[in-house]
Amino acid sequence: MTTTLTWLGHAAFRVDTPGGKRIYVDPFLNGNPKCPESEVEPERVDAILITHGHGDHVGDTVALAGKFGATVVAPVELADWLQGKQGLENVLDPNKGGTVDVDGVRVTLTHAQHSSSNNDGDYTGEPCGLVVDPGDGPKLYFAGDTNVFGDMALVARLYSPDVAVLPIGGHYTMDPREAAVALELLGVSRCVPCHYGTFPVLTGTPAELRELAPGVEILEPQPGESIEL
Ligand code: NI
Ligand code: MN
Repeated sequence: MTTTLTWLGHAAFRVDTPGGKRIYVDPFLNGNPKCPESEVEPERVDAILITHGHGDHVGDTVALAGKFGATVVAPVELADWLQGKQGLENVLDPNKGGTVDVDGVRVTLTHAQHSSSNNDGDYTGEPCGLVVDPGDGPKLYFAGDTNVFGDMALVARLYSPDVAVLPIGGHYTMDPREAAVALELLGVSRCVPCHYGTFPVLTGTPAELRELAPGVEILEPQPGESIEL
């Protein structure tokens, strides 16, 4: 059994676990210029993981969680907002360093260096990264929106992810130059770049990262394409 990772454009992903769970990460589908038409209306959602409160990450969370009764995992203040102001019921609210179990999938919130508020300007806690351990096979690290920071070495030491999903577009997050250093700190053998190409300012490319990180396999799915991990 394998884990399947499908890129939905920008920082949105679908993870299908070996245990059969379908998890969306930062499900910015409606309004995401790179999300394929066929992926805008999911047919099934078991869980949703959100790194921070920005609109291009919270995306369709409220509608999808309501429609499918999916479990949502979000940093505590964002979780409070989803429950208190948006009326969602099935929300888990860890903070950095915390791990929650979602139907056998372990999700740990890590540090990220960025900002976080929602579209109304409400404070939604600190931005986070996510380590996702499906319980079988490779572990994934979604860095979320962040620059590179030295404590990515702690993510490697503590959680030993196998695959890193890193933003590379620059401007709002790290670019390929920073991502190459992140890969050194993380010690992973495979990387899936994201948060590039969506908007004109997000100029970093997988080709640039490949040149700067020769020891790492830089996977380059197209939006809508799935990778077996
Ligand atoms: Ni952001
Ligand atoms: Mn973003």
